[in-house]
Amino acid sequence: MNSTQNTGRIAVITGASSGIGAATARALAADGHRVVLLARRLDRIQALAAELGHGSIAVQADVTDRDQLIAAADHVREELGGVDVLVNNAGVMLLGPFSSAQYQDYRTMIEANLLGAITATEVFLDQLQDGGGDVINISSVAGRTARAGNGVYAATKWGINGWSESLRQELLPGVRVTLIEPGVVDTELPAHITHEATREQVQKGYDAATVTPEEIAEVIAFVLSRPRHLAINEILLRPADQLG
Ligand SMILES: NC(=O)c1ccc[n+]([C@@H]2O[C@H](COP(=O)([O-])OP(=O)(O)OC[C@H]3O[C@@H](n4cnc5c(N)ncnc54)[C@H](OP(=O)(O)O)[C@@H]3O)[C@@H](O)[C@H]2O)c1
Repeated sequence: MNSTQNTGRIAVITGASSGIGAATARALAADGHRVVLLARRLDRIQALAAELGHGSIAVQADVTDRDQLIAAADHVREELGGVDVLVNNAGVMLLGPFSSAQYQDYRTMIEANLLGAITATEVFLDQLQDGGGDVINISSVAGRTARAGNGVYAATKWGINGWSESLRQELLPGVRVTLIEPGVVDTELPAHITHEATREQVQKGYDAATVTPEEIAEVIAFVLSRPRHLAINEILLRPADQLG
């Protein structure tokens, strides 16, 4: 997807240590972006930055900690002059039956998936507005649907969808806002589910996953490769055999 308009653009990707975030970093680097990898697992993002080269950098940050995001934004401004693309990808999917046993999971998901994306955008906003930016918000099919056992995860993704539409209207035309809503993608996402029976059940579905993170990353690279007058605002994508 090599497009000259992306050469030298700076892309910050949250949750770049695995799955869709790591694949997106690879795809955007291949497309000429200089990538900034954000995540908590520093060893992973340092290894990926070394693999990618071309001035890629790893910045350890927890998206639930605003001070860490501010420090990351300051670092990006000082080192690279500012960000052009922010991919809000960091997230967790802590599924399980609704109960007090999961109360900490609810807070974790809302703070990481929803507030984390909002805060990252807020702290990088002045840089994104300084010369034509892009915000890519990784939502989910769960941002349009809901089912038993995924209520709070779905709430975070419905929240991302509503916030994205408002943001799109506020930031146009200088900053384009795109919502990506994948179905099941083969990543480590279900491995972090704390409710054991749910984790085992969901993992079985993920063991049979057909869509790869690289396929989602290709779509993101395609969105960013469009000319500035064209904004692709929303993409819903599922494995061809996924019902809900
Ligand atoms: N896989 C799917 O089926 C699917 C479908 C629809 C949407 N999504 C969405 O895609 C996004 C990426 O998920 P994935 O499937 O690629 O799963 P993944 O491999 O588990 O990746 C999640 C990433 O988020 C990061 N992360 C989690 N909490 C964080 C925090 N507090 N601060 C910073 N980074 C944090 C993790 O890095 P560290 O642990 O190193 O911090 C990791 O890099 C999520 O928003 C998810 O909801 C996934």
